[in-house]
Amino acid sequence: MAYKIVTIDGDGIGPEVNQATIRVLREACGSDRLEFSAFDGGAGHYLRSGEVLPADTLQACRDSDAILHGAAGLPGVVYPDGTEVGNDLHLRLRFKLDLFANVRPIRLIKGVTSPLTGWQPGQIDYVIVRENTEGLYASRGGGVRLRDELATDTLVVTRRGIERVTRFSFELSRSRRGAPRDGKRRVTVCDKANILNTYAFFRAVSTEVAAGYPDVEIDYAYADAITVHMIKKPDFYDVIVAENMFGDIISDLGAATVGGLGVASSAELGENHGLFQGAHGSAPDIAGQDVASPIATMLSGALMLRWLAERHQDKRLLADATRVETAVETVLAQGQLVPADQGGSARCSEFTEAVLRAMR
Ligand code: IPM
Ligand code: MN
Repeated sequence: MAYKIVTIDGDGIGPEVNQATIRVLREACGSDRLEFSAFDGGAGHYLRSGEVLPADTLQACRDSDAILHGAAGLPGVVYPDGTEVGNDLHLRLRFKLDLFANVRPIRLIKGVTSPLTGWQPGQIDYVIVRENTEGLYASRGGGVRLRDELATDTLVVTRRGIERVTRFSFELSRSRRGAPRDGKRRVTVCDKANILNTYAFFRAVSTEVAAGYPDVEIDYAYADAITVHMIKKPDFYDVIVAENMFGDIISDLGAATVGGLGVASSAELGENHGLFQGAHGSAPDIAGQDVASPIATMLSGALMLRWLAERHQDKRLLADATRVETAVETVLAQGQLVPADQGGSARCSEFTEAVLRAMR
C-alpha cells in the first residue's frame, strides 16, 4: 500500500528544495511506497488565482497520509491589513487540519558548527514543541483596527489546547533518551506565568498533565529567561513546550544555536494529519539559482517517514528515515559539499546528488 503524500512546492526556493527532497525520499523508500501528488498553494498561486489555498489542495491534504511543503511567501504580496498572503497558507492548513503540535528538533548534527563555542554534535539535542493552533495566533484576522489609532490581537489559551500539546510533549520525552547533560527525561514549560493570567493557566494545566508522567521531570522557564538558558546550557533541555508565539520565537533562536534555519526541520502534527517543511522561509532573493540548501526540507522529509512509520507500525519506513538522515549528515561531515548558509558554495543539485550517492 503506497502512502499518499501531497506536495505543495509553494514560492521562492520552495520548488527546488521540495523537489530535491522528493528525489531523496523516492530513493530511500522506493517509488512504489510513496505516491506523491503535487498541488498548488502560496503567494504565487494567489497572484494567479486569488486563492492562497485552493479547495482542491485542502481536500487533497485532508485525504492525504502526509503533506510535504517547500516554502511560501513573496515580498509585497500582502492582504489589505498588511499581513502576508504566503503565511496564510501555513496558517489555514494549521487551523483547518488542527495541527496542534509544531515539532521543532534542535539538534547539532555532524558537519555543522554551532555558533556557541565548544559544543559538539550530540551535546545539543532537544525538541521545541510549539502549540500551533491558538495562543497569540488564535485571533489572527479577528483583531481590532480602530481609526488608525488602535490595534489589538487577543491571546487565547484553552484547557483542551494546553492539555493535548503538553501530553504530546511528555509522550515525546518518554520516546527520547533524556537531556544530553544528565540523561534525564524532562519537559520544560516555557511561559510568562509570573505576569499574565493566560500563561499562569498554561503552566497550571501543564502541571496537571505532568502528574500523569512521574518518570518525566517537569521544569519551568520564563520566555525571556529561557533565551539565556538556550545559549548558556543548551544540553540541559530534552523537550520544551510553549504557547504559539513564544514557540515561534524561541524555535528560531534554537535553530540558530545548531546552525541556522537552513538545517531546521519541522513537523506540524494533529490527530489525523502531518505537515512537514523546513522551518525557513521562501528566500525569494536566491530562488531559481540552485543555491538554496535542501537540508531542512530533507530532514523534514525524514521526520515525515518517522511519523508515518510510527502511525502505521512500518519498520521499513523507520529504517528509510535513518538512511535519509545519515546520508545528509555524511555529506555534510565530508565537508566537500557545504551549502551557502553553512559558509560553503555547494549547489542544491550537487548536494542532492551527493545525498543520493551516499544512500546507494
Ligand atoms: C514559522 C513561520 C510561520 C509562523 C509563518 C510562515 C506563518 O514563522 O513557521 O515559524 O509565524 O508561524
Ligand atoms: Mn517562525
